[in-house]
Amino acid sequence: MKYFSTFLLLILIIPAVAQENLIMNVDGRNQVSLNGEWNYIIDPYETGFYNYRFSERQEDDREAYWNRPTVRNISDRLEHGYQEPYTIKVPGDWNSQAEVFKYYEGTVWYQQEFDLPPVKDSEEVVLYFGAVNYEAHVYLNGKKLGMHKGGFTPFNFEVPKSLLQEKNNFLVVKVDNKRHADEIPTLNTDWWNFGGITRDVKLLLLPETFVQQYSLQLDPEQDIKKAHESGIYTLSGSIKLNEQPKNSEVTIEIPELKAKKQVEITEDSANFTFQVKDLQLWSPQNPKLYEVKLSIAGNEIQDKIGFRKIETSGKDIMLNGEKVFLRGISIHEEIPQEMRRANSRKDAAKIFEYVRDLNANMVRLAHYPHNENMTRMADSLGVLVWSEIPVYWTIDFENENVLEKAKNQLKEMIIRDRNKASVIIWSVGNETPVSEARTKFMKSLIGTARELHDTRLISAALEVTKDDEGVQHVNDPLGQFTDIVAVNEYLGWYGALPDAKENSTWEIAYDKPLFFSETGAGAKAGFHGKKEERWTEEFQKWYYEETIKMLRNMPDNYSGVSPWILMDFRSPRRNHPVYQEGWNRKGLIDNNGNKKLAFDILKSYYSNIKKASEDKNEKQEQQLIAPGAELKLLADGFAFTEGPATDADGNVYFTDQPNNKILKWSAQDEKVSVFMDNSGRANGLYFDKDGNLYAAADNRSELWKISDQKKVTIISKGFEGNKFNGPNDLWIAPSGGIYFTDPYYKRPYRNFQKQPIKEQKVYYLSPDQKQLKVAADDLIKPNGIIGTPDGKTLFVADIEDNKTWKYTIADDGSLQNKTLFTNLGSDGMTLDEKGNLYLTGNGVTVFNPQGEKILHIPVEKEWTANVTFGGKENCTLFITAMDSVFGLQMNVKGAK
Ligand code: GCU
Repeated sequence: MKYFSTFLLLILIIPAVAQENLIMNVDGRNQVSLNGEWNYIIDPYETGFYNYRFSERQEDDREAYWNRPTVRNISDRLEHGYQEPYTIKVPGDWNSQAEVFKYYEGTVWYQQEFDLPPVKDSEEVVLYFGAVNYEAHVYLNGKKLGMHKGGFTPFNFEVPKSLLQEKNNFLVVKVDNKRHADEIPTLNTDWWNFGGITRDVKLLLLPETFVQQYSLQLDPEQDIKKAHESGIYTLSGSIKLNEQPKNSEVTIEIPELKAKKQVEITEDSANFTFQVKDLQLWSPQNPKLYEVKLSIAGNEIQDKIGFRKIETSGKDIMLNGEKVFLRGISIHEEIPQEMRRANSRKDAAKIFEYVRDLNANMVRLAHYPHNENMTRMADSLGVLVWSEIPVYWTIDFENENVLEKAKNQLKEMIIRDRNKASVIIWSVGNETPVSEARTKFMKSLIGTARELHDTRLISAALEVTKDDEGVQHVNDPLGQFTDIVAVNEYLGWYGALPDAKENSTWEIAYDKPLFFSETGAGAKAGFHGKKEERWTEEFQKWYYEETIKMLRNMPDNYSGVSPWILMDFRSPRRNHPVYQEGWNRKGLIDNNGNKKLAFDILKSYYSNIKKASEDKNEKQEQQLIAPGAELKLLADGFAFTEGPATDADGNVYFTDQPNNKILKWSAQDEKVSVFMDNSGRANGLYFDKDGNLYAAADNRSELWKISDQKKVTIISKGFEGNKFNGPNDLWIAPSGGIYFTDPYYKRPYRNFQKQPIKEQKVYYLSPDQKQLKVAADDLIKPNGIIGTPDGKTLFVADIEDNKTWKYTIADDGSLQNKTLFTNLGSDGMTLDEKGNLYLTGNGVTVFNPQGEKILHIPVEKEWTANVTFGGKENCTLFITAMDSVFGLQMNVKGAK
């Protein structure tokens, strides 16, 4: 009895603890693949597990299928074995691999042998499974390593060294995919119950102490807008080791951000936060991933992580502080052309090809966590992901054990994809019938997801109810506890016809983002007829047309949709002999990869939405340029125009350095006149608030002050006894302090040809012009420079490094918090009243304060050297380019 109860205890405990030891990012670890051809035994009566009394076989029972079948002599009786032709591919479902397996639900024994790769004494050996549907009992050399339930999440078992042998390790996995009422999913699903070792099997060779789990994300607490402003972002996370380490420090490194953080480990884990600069946030438009290294005791793992913030704000879903609309599509983890489970990177690439073709920016991975190749690829392609556990339909909500099983799958899903930027929504279930027990069950799941300190939105696919007046209600009580309200609606397919949709009335009980997680209609590809005829492609097209009309009438919390479904998929519930034959035909693409008519209906709906959001940017652009305004040539015939600066009356002074002149463009009559000959080969110019013109006179590498009477005062000509390289551009802060760049350019007209100062720096001259100090000395070739009217922020372009940096200005004028504003350098630059930054070089490129490019103004000249705002209304963009100066009427004024 005692042995049995301990064994029972073990069975119960083993699944529960699996998550705590689940190893993340196995791709970043030292490993040996055990994929390939495995032997198998189909065992519907579980004869290999139970004896004829149907009690579990003893461990050393030679008829147990986990023991190596050994015939001791010719008269020996043994009634099982592993050999050709009974072999099967791993990873892969068994249903698509042989006709005998097509409808098979039951036990199949998998077996293979492997030789041990060289393992150091200090190393741990771990057996890792990407997923096994549904119940897996794993044995090695006749010993049980453990058991796992759940068909779509990973698990691993440490392999005691004593169990391993150099050659022919006998690995056996009992896989059973029988459905049970008290499992997750339960007895009834609208997808094929593919059985088998459906994902990768790996042998991990790990250092004695290793990082088991870790999370590294943008700290959810920070105000993303403020972070944009300051350019300083806080990252936070946690680390869990496999054991208490001897040396308790883990180093986290993000080389590209020059970030390195030592984390002190207490017992076997730690939380941490640290700040980074120059961070590019991950988004569908810019799926930026950073290489991250975590190392302990000289052992390092690498990962690629994107940083983004997902949240809701009232009725909107916000990505990185911007409202985002989810142009989604639901997907099952299948390659219908081969009637099999998808599992590889190639499969993922195929599926995402269709997703991109649809103009979708989001996928709902239904109804279970898909393989990690899907979420990794979504990370690199910039596709947002909804990931879900198969708490589907009529789960046994009263049963505590079932809740435990659901929680295990939830934890495994979250732990595996914890650092995937693309995953923005965890769903705890689909179409679960409203009842008190159910809502309590689901609420508890939501609680577990929140406890895992994750930064994502929590949801569930709910159902719509219709009242006697035909009003559609979104009022499932579970909607109170989720971050967004997601509903599956099938008006026009499961009830009424599509023309009931446009004028349908909807009562939405929630003021939070509304998402349609399913809507769709069936069609047999190639079957054509009247639109009223069900199963025709025309019917499905009609359904989508009417659905889109209905969605256009949705309230303003409507935040997206993921129609059901990208491709036809296998379902044992779909048995119409002509139109279905075991296929759910709601795909927009059929099982041979052919698009149905409805595909293009959804595609154009999405391209309009995509265009509308791009147009919004466009409009932002339009909002910058005055309606109908064109770039106008104001004057030409110069040698090389530069350094435009505007006086209080809107007149713009600019230089023609090769001709050693400062010229004046009059805001009154738009005429150009010579303001000053012998301008000291002035380049950049800037007016102080008293109307004095300052010039970067690089003939003698000096900084000049020119009074309105054209009296020149040299206010600076070198640093620490050295002549400047050649002051180029300058900006005068409201305090009167002057920032100027000192890049070195060879100038034919100078009396020195050697670079006076090795570093090309940015200097700061104090308001009293008595103190000159280095403001920045870590740029390659600083050129353009401009600051904000509040004197708080300075932008400097490194023309050689093709980057523009942003600094905060401290009270003493020193520059702090250097951050990358954008990966584009510039010659001269300017700001408008909205804080948009105008860079030059190839025409003028405009960036909004978030560093997003919002406009490019082409200038038909080889080089555009500088830009400023001028004119009476200060809304003429004045551009100097080669031998000309141009003007463009803007809808914004210059920053003042
Ligand atoms: C449901 C369900 C899907 C199913 C679909 C359908 O809403 O969530 O799993 O396949 O409807 O009926 O086609």
